[in-house]
Amino acid sequence: MLELNAVQSGYGETQVLYGVSLAAQKGRVMAILGRNGAGKSTTLKTIMGLLPLKSGEIVFDGKPIAAQPFDIAKSGIAYVPETRDIFPSLSVRENLELAAKRFGGGAADLTMERVLDLFPRLGERMDNGGTQLSGGEQQMLAIARGLLMNPKLLILDEPTEGLAPIIVKLIHDKLQDLKAEGLSMIIVEQNFGFATSLADDVVVVDKGQIVWTGSADEIKADEEAQHTWLGV
Ligand SMILES: Nc1ncnc2c1ncn2[C@@H]1O[C@H](COP(=O)(O)OP(=O)(O)O)[C@@H](O)[C@H]1O
Ligand SMILES: [Mg+2]
Repeated sequence: MLELNAVQSGYGETQVLYGVSLAAQKGRVMAILGRNGAGKSTTLKTIMGLLPLKSGEIVFDGKPIAAQPFDIAKSGIAYVPETRDIFPSLSVRENLELAAKRFGGGAADLTMERVLDLFPRLGERMDNGGTQLSGGEQQMLAIARGLLMNPKLLILDEPTEGLAPIIVKLIHDKLQDLKAEGLSMIIVEQNFGFATSLADDVVVVDKGQIVWTGSADEIKADEEAQHTWLGV
């Protein structure tokens, strides 16, 4: 469904990705793992058209991906950045309504009702402003906004970062439900247990290149790979 072939990109003169190749399949969850600074977020930003592709290609649904972030989103990819990027001056309701354009044509039927059923906490916070939310509520809102686009592919950058264990578990369980409904996902995570329990497929990035590819079960069993590439 999403293929990167020898992707090179970076920030201005600073090259960060030196030929990233991966293939995320429809109906499956891929985890992108790797140490801090390895190039995981840069990979996601390049997919989303937020950084220019220096060379290589990105193919989504059999076609070269669009050039502009809006067109990439419109083609069915929802991206939840590490920074969550909710609108602090808008209420939860307004944040959700802005996202509810539903142009993705994805696998799951992700209506406002369904999203509030997944995250009832947001329903209780509808009239609160973005700044009045806890970190966990902000992450739920960021994910809910992505889902309301009814994407074919949901991309999450470190969804559990800074969250309490109980919220991490809640988010894990909701993503598991969405996976069971057939939603394709790419998840970047530092939390190895979280990532490998959700993912089918795993790639590891180091210094801007893919250094390990396999299944979640394989990396769970491969202590050497964990030690070498992740410092687990
Ligand atoms: N805005 C930026 N400008 C220049 N370099 C950056 C920028 N953001 C990240 N980098 C560099 O790119 C490399 C990869 O970063 P990143 O993709 O964010 O890593 P991570 O795997 O932790 O998500 C790091 O060396 C980082 O310093
Ligand atoms: Mg990152």
